Amino acid sequence: MKKILNVISSARGTASNSTQLGNAIVEKLAEQYPGSTVKLRDLVVQKYPHLEESHLNAFFAPAENPTPGYKEAIQHSDEAIQEVMEADVIVIGVPIYNFNIPSALKAWLDHLVRAGKTFSYQTGRPEGLVKDKKVYLAIASGGVYSNGPMKSFDFAEPYLRAVLGFIGITDITTFRAEGTNVPDLKETALQKGIDSIVV
Ligand SMILES: Cc1cc2nc3c(=O)[nH]c(=O)nc-3n(C[C@H](O)[C@H](O)[C@H](O)COP(=O)(O)O)c2cc1C
Repeated sequence: MKKILNVISSARGTASNSTQLGNAIVEKLAEQYPGSTVKLRDLVVQKYPHLEESHLNAFFAPAENPTPGYKEAIQHSDEAIQEVMEADVIVIGVPIYNFNIPSALKAWLDHLVRAGKTFSYQTGRPEGLVKDKKVYLAIASGGVYSNGPMKSFDFAEPYLRAVLGFIGITDITTFRAEGTNVPDLKETALQKGIDSIVV
């Protein structure tokens, strides 16, 4: 039995390839681990705000001496961190927008990566504080980035591995629906991605 957090960041609702791929990963996990629970976090339906001064002040204010507006400013970060900490497995749907992750997902990460909560420099070196999590990335792209001439434009997966690794999440597996805009590939891109899932 696993606690699964299903993170959606495509703006295309149920037509989304990354969401469908992520849902297929969740289904396989639920089959594999009967009794699992799934928490949905749709970052397009419920947006995380871009970081403003109030958020930064709150991030660095000691909780026992809160800044004015602290509670309101910190709530998104607290929520994102709590949901990740509670999960055993996190499935992240990632549509590629302009060679990288959507800003909705970046905003969520900006609230999740927080000094003293998900990472620490206390030992003098950065230490990730999010332990024992498994992440599956469900990446959908119009082009093909896993190999071929566009591979050097594959910024999203390395970035996600870096930022999640920074907070301690290193057990990451990627599945892709790629070539969703390429003639000859687009008809089968999603199904090929779904068929490749092993959990
Ligand atoms: C705003 C926008 C930007 C995009 N930029 C890229 C891109 O840089 N590279 C690419 O391969 N596909 C790009 N695409 C195509 C999407 O990655 C592709 O349609 C993918 O299937 C979207 O995932 P989704 O179906 O989960 O929304 C872009 C699509 C949109 C809407």
